[in-house]
Amino acid sequence: MIKLGVMCSGRGTDLQSIIDAIADGKLDAQIAIVLTDKPNVMALERAERAGLKFACVDRKQCADQMTFEAKLITELRAAEVDLVILAGFMRILSPTFVRAYKDRIMNIHPSLLPAFPGAHAHRDVIEYGVKVSGCTVHFVDEGTDSGPIIAQVAVPVLEGDDEESLAARVLEQEHIIYPKAIQLYVEGRLQIDGRHVRILSE
Ligand code: GAR
Repeated sequence: MIKLGVMCSGRGTDLQSIIDAIADGKLDAQIAIVLTDKPNVMALERAERAGLKFACVDRKQCADQMTFEAKLITELRAAEVDLVILAGFMRILSPTFVRAYKDRIMNIHPSLLPAFPGAHAHRDVIEYGVKVSGCTVHFVDEGTDSGPIIAQVAVPVLEGDDEESLAARVLEQEHIIYPKAIQLYVEGRLQIDGRHVRILSE
C-alpha cells in the first residue's frame, strides 16, 4: 500500500478530503504521517481525530530552511513515505528537498496554472478580472507552482465574488480532484514525460 506524507499549514480541508476518500474506499492509500510547519493548526486536530500519526516541525523554531527541511525529511523517512502530498502547505521547498523526493511530491494550487501562481491566487484572480479560475494538481519541480500538471478543474468567477466566496467554490472542486489524482498515482497511471503527465488507461 502506498504511504502518503501529507504536509499542511492551516485549516486542512484538503487533508480532510484525502482522509475521507480513504475511509470511503475511493483512495487506496495510507496516510503514514501528517506534518505541519506551524503548531496549533486545524490540520493537526484533523489528523489526531482521524487517529493518524502527526508532527509539527515549527519553521520558526528552525535556524534556517535547511534545518527545517532536514527535519521534515527525517519525519518522512521514519514514516517510510512513498509520496509527499502538499495540502495547503504554504512554504516553498528547496531544490534539495525536491530532489530527495523527485517526481514523488504533489501539490494542489487554487488557480488554473500557469496563471496566478504564488500565495495569493484568489486575490490576484479577482484583481485581474478573469472570468474563469479553478484548481490545479501538479507534480512539484524545482520552481514555484511550475511542475508538470496532472489535473485541472475550471470554476467560474462570479460577479461580486470576493476572495472568500471564490475560495469556497474552488475548494469544493479541490476536494474532488485531489483524491482522484492521488488514486491515479496509486494505480501507477501517471507517466511524466517532460512537461506532460500522461494518464494511462486502466
Ligand atoms: C487550498 O485552497 C490550497 O489549494 C491552497 O491553500 C488552501 C488550503 O486549504 N494552497 C496554496 O495556495 C498553495 N500555494 P486547507 O488548509 O483548507 O486545505
